[in-house]
This record gives sequence, structure tokens and C-alpha cells, in this order.
Amino acid sequence: MTYKLGLIGYPIKHSLSPWIHKQFLEVANLQGNYSIFEVREVELTELVQTIKEKSVTGFNVTLPYKQKIIPLLDDLDPSAKHIGAVNTVLNKEGRLVGFNTDGIGYLRSLEQSFPDLTNNKQVNILIIGAGGAARGIYNALHQAGYTSIAIANRTIEKAKELSRHSESAILTLDQAEENLAIFDLIIQTTNVGMKPNQGDSPIKLDGMKSSTIVSDIIYQPIWTTLLQDAKMKGAQIHHGHSMLLYQAQYAFEIWFGVTPSLRNMNSQLKRILEG
Ligand code: ATR
Repeated sequence: MTYKLGLIGYPIKHSLSPWIHKQFLEVANLQGNYSIFEVREVELTELVQTIKEKSVTGFNVTLPYKQKIIPLLDDLDPSAKHIGAVNTVLNKEGRLVGFNTDGIGYLRSLEQSFPDLTNNKQVNILIIGAGGAARGIYNALHQAGYTSIAIANRTIEKAKELSRHSESAILTLDQAEENLAIFDLIIQTTNVGMKPNQGDSPIKLDGMKSSTIVSDIIYQPIWTTLLQDAKMKGAQIHHGHSMLLYQAQYAFEIWFGVTPSLRNMNSQLKRILEG
């Protein structure tokens, strides 16, 4: 059997997902194709219908359709419901079920790189940002038992909304900078510093202690200004491309029920992104 997979978004010609899933199919010893469905919004409904009829096993969804896809699906997994965005869809016997793999993917990538964290759930964590990505990461950390998670965001109301059902310190970006020495793990989830604005950084790291882990979910560039600063100050670095790999791995697991090994994809992808 040849499985059909794909990605819906616009524009997506340069997506890394086909590269990743082709390798997963190989690792899992499955025959399949991963197609690029680059469509305009007016074509979205028809595309989803066609996908359903053509027995596509599952597909990924990226910008700008992570929310717009929701009314076209039959069901949502709790993660997607909570985050309000879908990046993975499973065709379950003709019913399309939406998932969001960002949070779990991030958590796996983090704990894989820093296994000691799994026994130290009291670490002081700072999440910068309160958008969709932050929501997924916040929930995954919270559910995994991490107890001290502060949120800093430009718009304070959005940070409050994110932590509505739990107790978290809410900070402005300035307050985060002033109190940086408290934190053992800093997770950058905004799009500040992403290409073509790679000179930007959401906060200055002057107050940070050198044992801190600094994690940026941006992977283009792989060395954001924030991560470069962090490295200069002796911090431990967690790059954004590993979240990409692990959230794809979790998507593959949703489609096929098997967890493909990453082999050496982490270092390979880093090299590709470093050019
Ligand atoms: P995503 O789904 O990638 O998380 P999003 O939901 O649009 O994207 O969230 C973007 C995040 O980046 C938000 O936290 C946003 O801050 P606001 O809530 O104040 O909008 C943050 N962000 C975007 N541009 C920013 C900037 N120039 N300075 C600081 N934060 C910024």
C-alpha cells in the first residue's frame, strides 16, 4: 500500500516537511508520498473534500490555515481545541480529526536535549510570547508537571489569558529583563528575530546567569540574535529546528501509530539550515 500524506499552506514551496516525512517513511519501512498542496483560501474547502475522497492518510497544516481549517474538520483532539489551531490532521475512516503537535513536539525536543529536566520539574521557566506557539508549549509544560512557568509578553492581557486556568507570574518584557537571573530556562516563542528581521531580539540577556538554558523556537535563522547573545554569555543553547523534527515525529505517530527514529536528522537539518 502507498500511503498519501501532504501539507496544506501558502506559500510552502520551501517547506522542510517533505524532507522530514520522506525520511520517516523510510525509517518506518512504509511506502508513501508527501505532497505539497499550495492553495489559495478560496480553494481550501474543495481541497479538503478531495483529500477526504482520495483516502489521504493524513496531512499537515501550516500558515495561514491553522485556524481556517477547523470548520472543515469533523473533530478536534483536546490539544487542538485548547490551542485553537491545527497543524496535523488524521483521516480516521473518512472523518478528519485535527491535532496540534507543537506543544508535545517542543517538550520532547527539550527533554531529549536536556534529560536532567525530567527529574527537575521545579526549574524556573520563562516563556517569552503569548501567541499560538506559546500556548501549545505552556500547556505541554504544565501538563508534564513543570510547576514554575512565568510568561512575558508585549501585550500583557494576552499573557494573562494564556495562564487563565493556572497560576503563573505575568511580566512585561522589561520586567523579564530585570528579573532574568531567576530563570533556569528561557523559551523564546515570538517571531521577533525571524528572517528577514534577524537583527531583532525580544529581550536583552544582560541579567541572565550563565547556567541558564536558552531556547528559541525560530529556526530561520538557526542562530537567532538571542541565541548568539546567549552563547556569548555561556548559556546552554536549544535550537528551533529540533522542535520542528519532534512535532513532525509526533504527527507521524498520529498517522501510523509508530514513532520513527530521528537517526541523524537533527544534525543534518542543522547543517542544512546553517547553509
Ligand atoms: P504564533 O502562532 O507563531 O505564536 P502569534 O499567535 O501571532 O504567532 O503570536 C505572536 C507572538 O509574538 C505574540 O506573543 C506577539 O506579542 P503580542 O501578543 O504583544 O502581539 C509576539 N510579537 C510579535 N511581534 C512582536 C514584537 N515586535 N515585539 C514583541 N513581541 C512581538
